Amino acid sequence: FSVENIRNFSIIAHVDHGKSTLADRLLELTGTIDKTKNNKQVLDKLQVERERGITVKAQTASLFYNWEGKQYLLNLIDTPGHVDFSYEVSRSLSACQGVLLVVDANEGIQAQTVANFFLAFEAQLSVIPVINKIDLKNADPERVEKQIEKVFDIPSDECIKISAKLGTNVERVLQAVIERIPPPKVHRKNPLRALVFDSTFDQYRGVIANVALFDGVVSKGDKIVSAHTKKIHEVNEVGVLNPNEQPAHKLYAGQVGYLIAGMKDVTEAQIGDTLYLHKQPVEPLPGFKSAKPMVFAGMYPIDQSEYNNLKSAIEKLTINDSSVTVHRDSSLALGAGWRLGFLGLLHMEVFNQRLEQEYNASVILTTPTVPYKAVLSSAKLIKARRAVQKNMIFIDQNRVMLKYLFPLNEIVVDFYDSLKSLSSGYASFDYEDAGYQTAELVKMDILLNGNIVEELITIVHKDKAHSVGKAICERLKDSLPRQLFEIAIQAAIGSKIIARETVKAYRKNVLAKCYGGDITRKMKLLKRQAEGKKKLRKVGNIEVPRDAFIKVLKTQ
Ligand code: GTP
Repeated sequence: FSVENIRNFSIIAHVDHGKSTLADRLLELTGTIDKTKNNKQVLDKLQVERERGITVKAQTASLFYNWEGKQYLLNLIDTPGHVDFSYEVSRSLSACQGVLLVVDANEGIQAQTVANFFLAFEAQLSVIPVINKIDLKNADPERVEKQIEKVFDIPSDECIKISAKLGTNVERVLQAVIERIPPPKVHRKNPLRALVFDSTFDQYRGVIANVALFDGVVSKGDKIVSAHTKKIHEVNEVGVLNPNEQPAHKLYAGQVGYLIAGMKDVTEAQIGDTLYLHKQPVEPLPGFKSAKPMVFAGMYPIDQSEYNNLKSAIEKLTINDSSVTVHRDSSLALGAGWRLGFLGLLHMEVFNQRLEQEYNASVILTTPTVPYKAVLSSAKLIKARRAVQKNMIFIDQNRVMLKYLFPLNEIVVDFYDSLKSLSSGYASFDYEDAGYQTAELVKMDILLNGNIVEELITIVHKDKAHSVGKAICERLKDSLPRQLFEIAIQAAIGSKIIARETVKAYRKNVLAKCYGGDITRKMKLLKRQAEGKKKLRKVGNIEVPRDAFIKVLKTQ
């Protein structure tokens, strides 16, 4: 293929606007997949993706299309649509020159339409607006055209109105890709320069790197070097994705495909890395911002004997998803485990689900927390409000875009669900990191008979300390078995107790065997019982079953 006949593009959209359905139609139209088969979301390969109906991992497919007497190679890079995965979107975009911006003809512009548009705009890509679902009864494509013109400054006559479901006008989309997206700017005669924009791990073949070639050629047997690690690898296989891997002799600049070179772990094929030929070093391509975890949670094997299995499962999954950060951690109650960082809550759930489905692992996941920076000075005294409005833009008479500055902690757990139910599903939401802000946070301890339980220490906002502390105490009360002595469960900030629950003692009837009225003996026994209780209390020797911790620490 001459470079002139190559196009590299992505589809970006708000969740559920029909990106995967459009991708399926494009694959069918170009004969990449058979029309007769059940082609529901072919690019959504993972079981979680099919179950949840969301794209998690970006997938790539090379399409061949004949138009006006020429054959074109169109490389489609699928992107996820959920807020948590915008990092994957920017990764995919780095290998493209243009995007299809899919907008639902009924819902119009939504939060991730805006966020994704700006990712493409910043990467200086050509944007083709595609208004989808025109077959719907409530579709109003003209209104959406006006929104697109107003918010993105794209003339309304550039919008292509389609029904991905029925296939209406989808051919126009392929033609627009050829007409409006420029071919990649590459030099085949220069030495190899390939960008790793994704990588997956295969048990038998090792790391499979998805690459976009900007310069040169690569073939089997070549010795390549990673600009990041400087390690040398021999190429075992190259090929294209159709969307399954199809080996080829060579990959040329302008092409997107995969490469296997005996790389055994994630650090050897980092996303954003540049590969070049041994002894022919090149200037690395600009990488991209590495993903910043926003939500942290502890992960422990349910059974400690499963530690090693879980460890290897986590390692394998993080090769596929390098946006997860992993640190070893241990907890008195839960044993050895890890502290994992995720891009968001859904990302965390998906990771957990993949561990269970693909690696058969059963884990305890603790309640997620967000990163804080503690400054030990009077600056915390500054009164910070929890949410600050930044601006407000009317998209049209019915829709308004609001920007707020929010503490991450407030949106991480159930904000999205509450927003959806408050607005009867009409509001949509996206976020980006706005840096650290000062806030009145306090460290809250949970005490059992006066002893701090280390694994339950939490950081909370001052105003919420009481309700959070109360909730933890209640949960702990429900899950702690009664013991021979009374247990006081307290939430405290410093020396101030803010919540308390009590687990009553079992009163073992020490007098049951005591016949008659021997008062001395009675007193002696009662004293011994009281001492026993005291002794246990003093050392804080409360048997807290692991289960109780699990119940308190677990999400849900
Ligand atoms: P994510 O992968 O989660 O980002 O979603 P997506 O944008 O890929 O959306 P998907 O293709 O899964 O479509 C979402 C829903 O809209 C599905 O139920 C589709 O069947 C439906 N849908 C997609 N295109 C059309 C269309 O043209 N008309 C109608 N009526 N429904 C459509």
